[in-house]
Amino acid sequence: MPFRFWSLMLICLLAASAQSSPPLRALAEKRNLRIGAAVEPSLLLQEPKYAQVLAREFNLVVAENVMKWGALQTSRGQYNFAPADLLVEFAQKNRMAVRGHTLVWHQQLPRWMYGSFGASEMEAILREHIQAVVGRYRGRVAYWDVVNEAVGDDARLRSTPFEVLPDYLEKAFRLAREADPQAKLFYNDYGAEGLGPKSDAVYALLKGLKEKGVPLDGVGFQVHVDLGFSPRAVRMAENLERFARLGLEIHITEMDVRLGGSGSRTERLAKQAQVYREVMRVCLGQPRCKAFTLWGFTDAHSWRAASEPLIFDVDYKPKPAYFALQQALQQP
Ligand code: G3I
Repeated sequence: MPFRFWSLMLICLLAASAQSSPPLRALAEKRNLRIGAAVEPSLLLQEPKYAQVLAREFNLVVAENVMKWGALQTSRGQYNFAPADLLVEFAQKNRMAVRGHTLVWHQQLPRWMYGSFGASEMEAILREHIQAVVGRYRGRVAYWDVVNEAVGDDARLRSTPFEVLPDYLEKAFRLAREADPQAKLFYNDYGAEGLGPKSDAVYALLKGLKEKGVPLDGVGFQVHVDLGFSPRAVRMAENLERFARLGLEIHITEMDVRLGGSGSRTERLAKQAQVYREVMRVCLGQPRCKAFTLWGFTDAHSWRAASEPLIFDVDYKPKPAYFALQQALQQP
């Protein structure tokens, strides 16, 4: 009961102070941090509030789906760039950076990619796609998730249609560098936030790529987590530090925090806020952590909408998690 009372008091106080506090992007800019959200461009047209809150609060966007292979190249050589163009134009108009997501992933591939291709044909397919996509957005997409989730939960490389091509990971980075020498090139994964076997495998992979001179600039930690997540328990700061020592830029790329579990709703919202706050604190404490991105921003539109994992509710009202980020960004 006392916990509930004080949680409610805290939420009311934060809500009152939020009226006068600057939006997240203004606070982040002061910290030299990009704060971002994953976006479905169709919603920019359908829901004025969606576009308004996004532009007010964030200075980075990433395409939740429309820059994936399956959305862009539905049949071989046929591209549909319209939704991705819309997003990039929105970002430019609102002075936001763009993360491109993603060039090599074992999911959301078009059906034709599962044909039986030999190595040289797969190389041509990869080259054509990267040249067309990265080339089109040259100078307008600041960061590319060149490779997404290549390491499985068993800490081994996943099976993918790309694997007929030896060194496909390395090739993808080299092709992306050629297509846009200015864009920063990232490896992105989930479940590697803290120390552990998967993170060790990602670390070894990226260290190996760097040693070979592969143009890899950064690593993205997705942070799709639940209320039980504790950066301290998994030693997230220590983990980020070892990747930083490889010379990599670090981004939090897809954060969301599922609300499910026991306890009252007020308690769970407070706990959710705490998880967001702690991860933001870890990022701010790491000089190479330059972007903090959420996988969406409103519970109205999330791949896990039922578990209300984001910082605005379905009516675009800021949740305790929003105020927690605001607070963390204002702390020295
Ligand atoms: O576009 C079609 C639409 O035409 C159709 O009517 C509808 C019917 O179900 O499906 C639509 O496609 C869905 C798409 O999201 C767009 O909403 C796909 O079925 C669905 O599988 C797809 O899910 C996406 C998922 O990646 C694919 O694996 C989620 O929205 C997206 O949030 C999620 O994002 C991934 C990141 O890319 C990588 N990291 C993990 C993250 C969460 O899974």
